[in-house]
Amino acid sequence: MAGRVDALYFLLLGVSIFFALLIAGLIVYYAIKYRRRTADEIGARIHGGMALEVTWSVVPLLITMVFFVWGASVYFAMARPPEDTLNIYVVAKQWMWKFQHLDGQREINELHVPVGRNVKLIATSEDVIHDFFVPAFRTKVDVIPGRYVSAWFHATKPGRYQIFCAEYCGTRHSGMTGQVVVMEPTEYQTWLSGGAPEGSLASAGEKLFQDLACITCHRGDAQGRGPVLQGLFGKIVELQGGGTVFADEAYIRESILMPGAKITAGFQPIMPAFQGLISEEQLLQLIEYVKSLQAQPQNTNK
Ligand code: CUA
Repeated sequence: MAGRVDALYFLLLGVSIFFALLIAGLIVYYAIKYRRRTADEIGARIHGGMALEVTWSVVPLLITMVFFVWGASVYFAMARPPEDTLNIYVVAKQWMWKFQHLDGQREINELHVPVGRNVKLIATSEDVIHDFFVPAFRTKVDVIPGRYVSAWFHATKPGRYQIFCAEYCGTRHSGMTGQVVVMEPTEYQTWLSGGAPEGSLASAGEKLFQDLACITCHRGDAQGRGPVLQGLFGKIVELQGGGTVFADEAYIRESILMPGAKITAGFQPIMPAFQGLISEEQLLQLIEYVKSLQAQPQNTNK
């Protein structure tokens, strides 16, 4: 994305420099050309000129519309991750970046990714607003407590790239840095297999699902007191009292933390709220577990 962002940036810079020089130059030129030559000289009065008015309205309009359309297309490309992404969770806290790979690897202030893949970050914060910024990728996104934001990048060269926090977040904000380590795919595979003692996120989520006794109500056989979760992710859910919601990460997050916010049609608001009882990491595990229930009709040991 860097090339596209830079092209727009240099266009804006170029147009700004052009008009700054043009205006400053004309001020100096006319100040000299129309200077008072005799003590009793009086300037000629100028009345409106329609052609001039239209010109200096339409020309800037056309130029700004180019910025708008160009900027919007770059914005949409950056804001909409492609379909085939490698998903990585990011949890920011004062003052570190925690990365959680779906296979179970966890990292702090270092993010290993393969070169040439679309990488999608799903990020949240445990405390205050932070901002995930990798200048080399032109990737920058505010990381906000209580919700998920996403960003994506496609690294084209192996190497190490600096991560900054770009939102003032407390005394050690300036030290909240890290590195993205972009590796050749084979190296990345080696790194991945290097250690995932805790198993995948989804399997950790499955264990938590049992430990927290979610399983007693959310049964796979539709006999439970809570909605069946198999195949839920990515579907439209009918709500009590009308309306629908798209079952994405944010909806599942909300339903775990504040179950009363959106009640599935046909169910009672009996689920306890888990707000403050589970960590952001545990939430991610549960969400990945619910997502893993996608393909299987029944709960299997994935
Ligand atoms: Cu986190 Cu600044």
